[in-house]
Amino acid sequence: MSKDYEWFKSEVYKLSSIDLSAYKERQMKRRIDSLISKNRFHGYESYLTALRDDKEKYEEFITYLTINVTEFFRNTSQWDVLEKEVFPYLFNQFSKNISIWSAACSTGDEPYSLAMVLSRTHPLTQINILATDIDKQILAKAQAGIYNDKSVVGVPKDLKDKYFVAEGRTYKISDQIKKTIRFKQHNMLKDPYPKNLDLIVCRNVLIYFTEEAKDDIYKNFNRSLKKNGILFVGSTEQIIQPQNYGFESIRSFFYKKVAEV
Ligand SMILES: C[S@@+](CC[C@H](N)C(=O)[O-])C[C@H]1O[C@@H](n2cnc3c(N)ncnc32)[C@H](O)[C@@H]1O
Repeated sequence: MSKDYEWFKSEVYKLSSIDLSAYKERQMKRRIDSLISKNRFHGYESYLTALRDDKEKYEEFITYLTINVTEFFRNTSQWDVLEKEVFPYLFNQFSKNISIWSAACSTGDEPYSLAMVLSRTHPLTQINILATDIDKQILAKAQAGIYNDKSVVGVPKDLKDKYFVAEGRTYKISDQIKKTIRFKQHNMLKDPYPKNLDLIVCRNVLIYFTEEAKDDIYKNFNRSLKKNGILFVGSTEQIIQPQNYGFESIRSFFYKKVAEV
């Protein structure tokens, strides 16, 4: 009998520790099925054998299923709120050295955007951002810090001039900004979460998860933040009942931790 998607999910878990059951099933299965037919495999079993034996195929699979689309200052108006309202609140509430986590950071556009905004008011030596993603290959790109002109469209001119070196259509982020960020592999569905944070930025990844998976992640975020710390989510990721997770909405897409869960 040919192997089914349930079997495939459990084999992928053994191979990669990625739990496909935590991602919305219809969307994920459709993506995987189309990748399998694009690669001209017939069914899950032969494709899985290729994933086991062929490192390139395996990496292509991980990169494909994790969906890495990102850009600097994605949804600009929310970055204005962050800069003009949320950062001043956080500095008032906590110390100058606030601890920030960019969870599911993809190619680094998001944590580098955070560092650049902060550099307007703080010396770079005081900026300390943890940036994580499940995808090792994408983290290597983040660390390299080389971007095309499309990714940097949203970067304000003062910051682009100061922190990027342009070569034709590519832009390289400066080493000074790089030094403010610590990149690390982290699976939000499995690994322990960092603690004592003032700000968590987690955008455009929760939409791919099931309600149960999101439920766990929100609780983990709550436990990771200090009281009065802030969670910043993506523009289609409003939390339906934030009070269930000890959060209170302070602005669209920004939640304050008001209680432990
Ligand atoms: C669409 S990108 C979002 C990037 C950035 N946060 C933004 O909003 O532009 C989604 C990222 O989530 C990562 N991801 C998917 N599943 C994950 C998991 N279980 N743990 C950590 N990161 C994950 C992917 O590798 C990908 O880089």
